[in-house]
Amino acid sequence: MGKIGIFFGSDTGNTRRVAKSIAKKLGDDAADPVNVNKASVDDVLSYGALILGTPTLGDGELPGLTSGAQAESWEEFLPQLKGKDFSGKVVAIFGLGDQEGYGHEFVDAMIEIYEVVKAGGATVVGSWSTDGYTFEKSKAIVDGDFVGLVIDHDNQKELTEERVDAWLDQIKSDLLAA
Ligand SMILES: Cc1cc2nc3c(=O)[nH]c(=O)nc-3n(C[C@H](O)[C@H](O)[C@H](O)COP(=O)(O)O)c2cc1C
Repeated sequence: MGKIGIFFGSDTGNTRRVAKSIAKKLGDDAADPVNVNKASVDDVLSYGALILGTPTLGDGELPGLTSGAQAESWEEFLPQLKGKDFSGKVVAIFGLGDQEGYGHEFVDAMIEIYEVVKAGGATVVGSWSTDGYTFEKSKAIVDGDFVGLVIDHDNQKELTEERVDAWLDQIKSDLLAA
């Protein structure tokens, strides 16, 4: 089992594909990515280092049944992580969104995951510059940067791989030191 746990939600598969690509790039350091609708709280808490991925669906929401996803996802799972102890854990978050179609609520769902793990005492790494994206508003910005890697598969697919590579370079040593 790799040292880094990767958990994701996904409706149409984009976030799953990015999670798989991250896992592949991390090789033996990472476990196989797990959809949160198949994960348990204990699975997540068994890792010292975590990469958590989500798309934003509905009206700036986490994926799940009320935001229009086809199956349960973060919307149903994240409340179970509320109040859990993440102290000593290092967490990196990535989010998928559509800056052209949803520029007024771009990747908003990332902030919900950020707030839960942060409240639990996690060290969150991997904040990401807003440079290179065009949008009006996002709740996922703290101190001027996105709280994690932002991927726009709908409009900037060609940038995904280099963004993932740069982000992993930025966070890998912190995750492995956890
Ligand atoms: C119904 C619907 C609502 C969406 N709402 C948002 C949104 O509020 N903000 C955003 O940034 N992207 C939004 N998106 C774009 C998705 O996040 C994006 O297409 C993403 O790549 C989907 O990932 P998935 O294939 O893992 O589900 C929405 C997409 C759909 C289909």
